[in-house]
Amino acid sequence: MAGLIPDNCLEDILSRVNIVDVISAYVPLKKAGRNFKACCPFHEEKTPSFVVSADRQIYHCFGCGESGNAFKFLMRHERMEFLEAVELLAKKAGVVLPETKKQDQTAVNFVNQLYKVNELAAAFYENNLSLPPAKHAKDYLGKRGLTEESLKLFKLGFVPDKWDLLLNYLKSKNVSLSVMEKAGLIVPKDNGGYYDRYRNRIIFPILDARDRVIGFGARVLDNSLPKYINSPETPVYVKGRNLYGLNFAKDAIRELDFVVIVEGYLDVIVPFQAGLKNIVASSGTAFTSEQARLLKRYTSNVVVVYDGDAAGQIASLRSLDIFIEEEMSVKIVSLPAGFDPDSFVRKNGVDSLKEKISKAQNLFDYKLGVLKSRFNYRNIDEKAKIAQAMLESLAKIKDAVLRSEYLKKLAQDLDIKEDALFQELKKIDTGKPSVNHSAIEVRKQLNISPTEKLLIKLMLEENDLITRIKNSLHPHDFIDERSTKIVTHIFKLFDEGRSVEPNLLMSHLGHDDSTQLLCESIFLPDQLSSDEKEKVADDCVKRLKHEKSRLHRQSLEQEIKIAQNSGDEDKLQSLLQEFHGLIKKKG
Ligand code: CTP
Ligand code: MN
Repeated sequence: MAGLIPDNCLEDILSRVNIVDVISAYVPLKKAGRNFKACCPFHEEKTPSFVVSADRQIYHCFGCGESGNAFKFLMRHERMEFLEAVELLAKKAGVVLPETKKQDQTAVNFVNQLYKVNELAAAFYENNLSLPPAKHAKDYLGKRGLTEESLKLFKLGFVPDKWDLLLNYLKSKNVSLSVMEKAGLIVPKDNGGYYDRYRNRIIFPILDARDRVIGFGARVLDNSLPKYINSPETPVYVKGRNLYGLNFAKDAIRELDFVVIVEGYLDVIVPFQAGLKNIVASSGTAFTSEQARLLKRYTSNVVVVYDGDAAGQIASLRSLDIFIEEEMSVKIVSLPAGFDPDSFVRKNGVDSLKEKISKAQNLFDYKLGVLKSRFNYRNIDEKAKIAQAMLESLAKIKDAVLRSEYLKKLAQDLDIKEDALFQELKKIDTGKPSVNHSAIEVRKQLNISPTEKLLIKLMLEENDLITRIKNSLHPHDFIDERSTKIVTHIFKLFDEGRSVEPNLLMSHLGHDDSTQLLCESIFLPDQLSSDEKEKVADDCVKRLKHEKSRLHRQSLEQEIKIAQNSGDEDKLQSLLQEFHGLIKKKG
């Protein structure tokens, strides 16, 4: 899979970036001895079995087996192509890559073209905002309290009331119509030709967590409808996979260990510029589990701020259960009627919003409050409705202890027997196909002999041992083909005089189980001195040879039996000869 990029480049990059920094940008890592630990981002778990080794520059999950180096992490976690991951880390490391063969990369190319055309469009809109025809747009944004600094940071733009301004601009930049259309920037006319999707609107570019422009929201300057026109789904803009403002907020979210979620673009920008920086917007759609997991890279604590009018809508509360399912904590602030975070901050100041946030109510308490104000809980039927709605959320809690605590509280609060609630809760549970699917995802350790693992580990720890082992073993002497693959690459790197580092090795292994095997080998527990290692290596070599000849003998015996049964005399003779040779050699 490396192929296109020379080894010394990969080596260079891997030696300059620290995998701990790379991964901690997405997963909260905790120091644990020489390593770092976290709950695995690749499968669901409650106790951390995901380990990042700073010494080895690799990661490995003891739960699901997912493992690799910094490139692999970005590929798996950020769904990057190998080349993308290399490019990103090369940039970080200050390594200049040689030109790659672009035609091999059509798919990557297409996606990159979309990012590029979005970037061009964003710059075009942004530039428009500073031109004379945009005066009323600037005035409008000024009236809404946006500072020059915010306009710049959030790359706000404007597009005048014409049908083909962007179209012509992009044409002049040699962008093809098909790319413009695929990016959602232009719309085909019924009778041929195209026109700009966004006209006479303020433009809010939507950036992903890595600052790439993935789409746009475009707002009218008056009360006409629709208020917003948004990008359609494109290969780079998948609704529900992103949160507006995350790229600006992520550091503050990690630092403060909670995220504030609001609805609109301006609800992000206005509080942000006033100093509340851990804030993102859902852009008015229901939350998805992808968004929850996206946030979970930075924090497990969510505070949702509802507009004054949206508060108390039970349907919108239901969509918060997604966070419960992801085992995040959810709190809620509801603003006074008529206010959204933007207008609330402008009227009362950001500290007043921060104050409300610090007193946010837990989702369950909040929901119960809403339900109680909605239904008359002294009426038996209505009380049952309240209980049912609460149990729907409670059923999503995975932690059994936590769930039973909430159940107890609910029973007291509604004055219902806990046992009755529990019976109802169980009904909801059984209605779901799988409450806990982590069991399915967990992969077992690979079934490979410890001898092979140990030999691999030893060669990586003491490169000096490679010659010794290479003199007595061929890669095919390893019984498992994944071991053979790893050893082949170890020998090859060694012969080429390169350092035999696990993280470099991984770039050569591709996507099969061999990286998992490599990590399982490296993380084998041991406390051997250098002298002992030599002796252990010799023992392993012996054991492996012994095992190999035992297997060889076994298969010969089997073939002999088959030859005997089929009466194939010639074959039988040659097999017997081979068999005797083997026995003699063993002595
Ligand atoms: N939204 C949308 N399409 C609409 C209306 C709303 O996509 N027709 C999304 C936008 O992302 C918007 C968010 O929902 O930011 C919240 O909507 P709303 O509260 O109506 O708008 P605001 O962002 O508050 O805009 P403003 O304050 O300028 O009215
Ligand atoms: Mn608003």
